[in-house]
Amino acid sequence: MSRSVKVAALALFVGAMLAVANSPIEAQQIATHAATKVSSKLGLGRPALPEEIKAWDTDVRPDGKGLPPGKGTVKQGDVIFQAQCASCHGEFGEGAGRWPVLAGGAGTLKADRPDKTIGSFWPDLSTAFDYIKRAMPYGNARSLSDDEVYAVVAYLLSMNDIVKDENFELSDKNFTSIKMPNAAAFFEDDRETSEKQFWKKDPCMKDCRSAPKVTGRAISVDVTPDSKAGPKVD
Ligand code: HEC
Repeated sequence: MSRSVKVAALALFVGAMLAVANSPIEAQQIATHAATKVSSKLGLGRPALPEEIKAWDTDVRPDGKGLPPGKGTVKQGDVIFQAQCASCHGEFGEGAGRWPVLAGGAGTLKADRPDKTIGSFWPDLSTAFDYIKRAMPYGNARSLSDDEVYAVVAYLLSMNDIVKDENFELSDKNFTSIKMPNAAAFFEDDRETSEKQFWKKDPCMKDCRSAPKVTGRAISVDVTPDSKAGPKVD
């Protein structure tokens, strides 16, 4: 079939479908659908280059997949942190002013005001690497090299007492060996088993309790403002 015959056939087909469409929106949907079927290319843009995809493909998974090669020590991280992070997050990650706190808070998760820091709350170290590489320093995101991110994460591990040795070097090789203190508190939804005892096979759906007994009314305990006694409003 030549191209012009094909286009004519498509026009006929779309015309026939439009006749059965109930609304302009439906007609448009049918037309779009028919057009996509003929060609999935719209003639716009160009395929992304491998380098462009690579530049955005920076996510790091808890199992270490996506980690770039690199390394950095607590001491190196300390220097970078003081220069590029401490103005907001405090010298030790304690948070300057009302900027986010990054260290401390161990044992506070059950308190009224828990400190949800990397050390006290985050279950996976990969989140720290991924987030810092992607979003920090605030206002100058993506300016750190991979080695600098490793170093800063190592420093944060040290500030959170997860590593004790200040000569510790974090790298893509030993990254997954770090266990976060709160990791075990995150687990798969286990309600199927843990809450099973609370479930009834035939839950009550109708007339489940008798009507409540009214023991007093606001008017009789005199809390309803009396329109005559209220302040005069112009
Ligand atoms: C200009 C202030 C500023 C600087 C400098 C800065 N941050 Fe942040 N940081 C923030 C703000 C604001 C947030 C919260 C952003 C949000 O929630 O969207 C944040 C969030 C974070 C978090 C996540 C905290 C959480 O509990 O959710 C981490 C980790 C972090 N920053 C690390 C760093 C590191 C490492 C540096 C230095 C390389 C840095 N930041 C520099 C302002 C700053």
